[in-house]
Amino acid sequence: MTNSKGFNIQEIRKQFPILNQKVNGRDLVYFDNAATSQKPQVVIDSATHYYSTINSNVHRGVHHLSQLATDAMEASRDKVQRHLNAAKREEIIFTKGTTDGINLIASGMGKGWIKAGDEIIISALEHHSNIVPWQMLCEQTGAILKVIPMLENGELDLDQYSALLNSKTKLVSINHISNALGTINPVHKIIEEAHKAQALVLLDGAQALPHMRVDVQELDVDFYVFSGHKIFGPTGIGILYGKEDLLDKLPPYQGGGEMIKSVSFEKTTYAGLPHKFEAGTPNIEACIGIGHALDFMNSIGVENIGNYEQELLNYASQKLSQFEKMRFIGTAKNKASLISFLLGDIHPYDAGVILDKLGIAVRTGHHCAQPIMDFYSIPGTIRASFAFYNTKEEIDQLVKGLKKVEMMLS
Ligand code: ALA
Repeated sequence: MTNSKGFNIQEIRKQFPILNQKVNGRDLVYFDNAATSQKPQVVIDSATHYYSTINSNVHRGVHHLSQLATDAMEASRDKVQRHLNAAKREEIIFTKGTTDGINLIASGMGKGWIKAGDEIIISALEHHSNIVPWQMLCEQTGAILKVIPMLENGELDLDQYSALLNSKTKLVSINHISNALGTINPVHKIIEEAHKAQALVLLDGAQALPHMRVDVQELDVDFYVFSGHKIFGPTGIGILYGKEDLLDKLPPYQGGGEMIKSVSFEKTTYAGLPHKFEAGTPNIEACIGIGHALDFMNSIGVENIGNYEQELLNYASQKLSQFEKMRFIGTAKNKASLISFLLGDIHPYDAGVILDKLGIAVRTGHHCAQPIMDFYSIPGTIRASFAFYNTKEEIDQLVKGLKKVEMMLS
């Protein structure tokens, strides 16, 4: 079956072996893609290939296997650079994931870049990993954390944002897309205004990279972070992009092997980029795997992916709105393929358990974004998040499942 966007969905699904299984006796319907996505065979094979043929430590050995592993890892860095349109490969740092990337920047800024009275702006739409590191930095330095408020529909209040910016603002750190509501933030405007105030901008792109093309030069963003496991790649790997001049000046994160030029007991000098931020033996297999994941996405076409997912989003929104007691949480004009909702008074957890019995995986709860739930005075939501391997038939299954949930719990 070829969908309207020109790619063959059944052929794509065949590339994801995990999708072809029963859960609780039913065909698996996997709608928890915002938490983690499934892996195509090429990514799974990449791990097997690495461990069965070239496993070796990188950047250290002159021997054959070490050269092969180093070449594969560095080729993957080049793929990431091209995917993001970064100006230089040195601007691509391998991290453990989005959270690690944010902590890396917070830690570096805490070593002399931020002082008491400086201001850091985040938003009401952040998940915990883009809140807590900045709270910790503020505690450590005496800096002040400011929060862009949100509107009832799940968009940011941009007038309030403009009012928060001033000469004390050192950094604006917000997500590109909200993991809990799916809101696509107007990042061009946010970056432009921050730069006018001489503030740096970090974007958390964990939920953006799976759905859209990101061009860091076009955005003119200072730092951009994302995770491998949400873009159909391995877990335990992520990317930090940073402008070269900033990363050059930013103090190192962790000390250890790989990140040094020379070590003596009197003085250590640090390696240049990107290795300055890559202390210790990396997750080599995953560094390589993330490149294969990007290749896979590009073989389908990121624009095709985005367009098809918007079709799924529209279809699901229309089907779910037929429930009389449906309450959508987050109705921003620009949304990624994710729907957060409540069904009458039914607790999200109870709905999630029943859906699971029907083979349908959704996430329920606060989605690591408690302040958003507090804003709406709710304990959590049911969240269905779609990837390009999902289908309208699966959405129909969700609708049937929710009817059952209503019947059992109302
Ligand atoms: N931040 C991830 C989610 O939204 C784990 O589920």
